[in-house]
Amino acid sequence: MPTALYPGSFDPFHNGHLDVVSVAAELFGSVIVAVLVNPQKPAALFEQQERTELIEASVAHLPGVVVRHFTGLVVDAVGRLGADFIVKGLRTVGDFEIEQQMAHTNHAVSGVRTVYVPASPAQSFVASSFIRDITRYGGDVSALVPPPVAARLRERFPR
Ligand code: PNS
Repeated sequence: MPTALYPGSFDPFHNGHLDVVSVAAELFGSVIVAVLVNPQKPAALFEQQERTELIEASVAHLPGVVVRHFTGLVVDAVGRLGADFIVKGLRTVGDFEIEQQMAHTNHAVSGVRTVYVPASPAQSFVASSFIRDITRYGGDVSALVPPPVAARLRERFPR
């Protein structure tokens, strides 16, 4: 069974991410969620280890899904963690442009392919950056994130 690697910074993991992981698990059977540090997005809410734990709690009901953290290139994570290809979620045309450039670059330097999963319409507006903004200003994001993430945000950032 091929294994898909779903990389991201997941700060924080939200319902759109959960939707992509669920579809990838249904399609491919085996998925590794890889929590990476995006140098363009310094950790704002949670450190890498805590993000990993929150994702583990959020995907515990999905068979075939494991969560790992990794430092370095996504294509190295594919090799090191024993995956076969990368899976990415697409919400908008803007996402497509960015992802397509990364997919071609990753393939050119390593031969690793990327497969896209479209975000479901109900989740296609959700973005970690909005969740960070709302959280910082004391808003409620519990409609946008899985229960373990909502609970930790409430603890860490009381309203
Ligand atoms: O959730 P994000 O922040 O959009 O995820 C972006 C991420 C972590 C997948 C991207 O920044 C990334 O690929 N980082 C690892 C470094 C890397 O492989 N760079 C080359 C990309 S072509």
